[in-house]
Formats: sequence, C-alpha cells, structure tokens
Amino acid sequence: MIYSKGLYTMKNEIRNELNLQINREMQSAYNYLGIATWCSEKGYPGSAHWFSLQAKEEMEHALKIYKYLLDRGETPTLESVGKPKAAFEDLRSTFEAALEQEREVENFLNAISVKAAEAKDHVTLNFLAWFLEEQVEEVASVQTILDQLSLAKDSLFLVDQELGKRTETESAGN
Ligand SMILES: [Fe+2]
Ligand SMILES: [Fe+2]
Repeated sequence: MIYSKGLYTMKNEIRNELNLQINREMQSAYNYLGIATWCSEKGYPGSAHWFSLQAKEEMEHALKIYKYLLDRGETPTLESVGKPKAAFEDLRSTFEAALEQEREVENFLNAISVKAAEAKDHVTLNFLAWFLEEQVEEVASVQTILDQLSLAKDSLFLVDQELGKRTETESAGN
C-alpha cells in the first residue's frame, strides 16, 4: 500500500523496534511450541494443548505488528528465529520459563512505548496499548497456573486436565 508520507511518517527507531518485536513474538511462539513438544513427550497432553494455543496467540501478535507496519507504509523486516529450548526439569519449570518470557516481553513493550511517546508517535502508542493490556493478562494467567501447580503438588494431572479444556477463542487471561 502506498501511504502518503508526511505527518504520520514513522521514525526509523520506532520501525526498527517494531521489527524486533515481531521477531520476539515469533520467538515466543517457537519457545512455546518447544515447551508443548516437551509436555506431549512427558505425558502432559493438557499442558501441551495450552502451550500450543499460546504459541498460536504469539504468532497472531507477530502478525498484528506486521500488518500495522504495512498499514503505516513501512516494510517489515523478518529476522531469523532461534532454536527453542527442548529440555525441562519438570512441568513447573515450563510455566516458570513462560512467566520469565512474558515478563521480558512486557519490559520490551514498555520500552517501545516510552520511545513512541518520546517520538510523539501517538498512533504507535495507541497501537501498543492493546499489547500492554494483553501482557498483564498473560502474566496473570501463567502466575495463576503456577499457583495451582503449587497447590496440586502430587496431583499434577488434575491441573493438566484443566489446562486441556482451554478453547481456541479463550485468551490466556481467561
Ligand atoms: Fe505476545
Ligand atoms: Fe505472550
């Protein structure tokens, strides 16, 4: 799409940050798929299901930013995605890894928002607000699962069974 440049021209710094964020979302998706594979292999089908839906959500996040760049008349740059971690100590450590990843992504999104505000790019700032809200939901949902795992102790399979009930339309926050 040919976008009329001018008032709404995106600063290079902001475009680069959004490109990096596309990559982070794709990396998150790949990391979650790696965890889903481990869960399937170790006999946690519910968790495998939960993580594979999470992977799908992260890919949707990447596509949302990709589309936003195109809509603003920018060309997205696609960087390579690294190999995800394939081995975990136990089920709890997979959700701990997820929590760490979500917090990291939240910090990055916050940093991009600060830059967008400094650049007076309110369109991008507005676009990023959805992502920041989504991060609050995702961090909270993973934290809740970790709490459930603590309570369940020896009955991990009950928690796993519950995670298997997640539906496609349901966001991680519900
Ligand atoms: Fe995401
Ligand atoms: Fe996420």
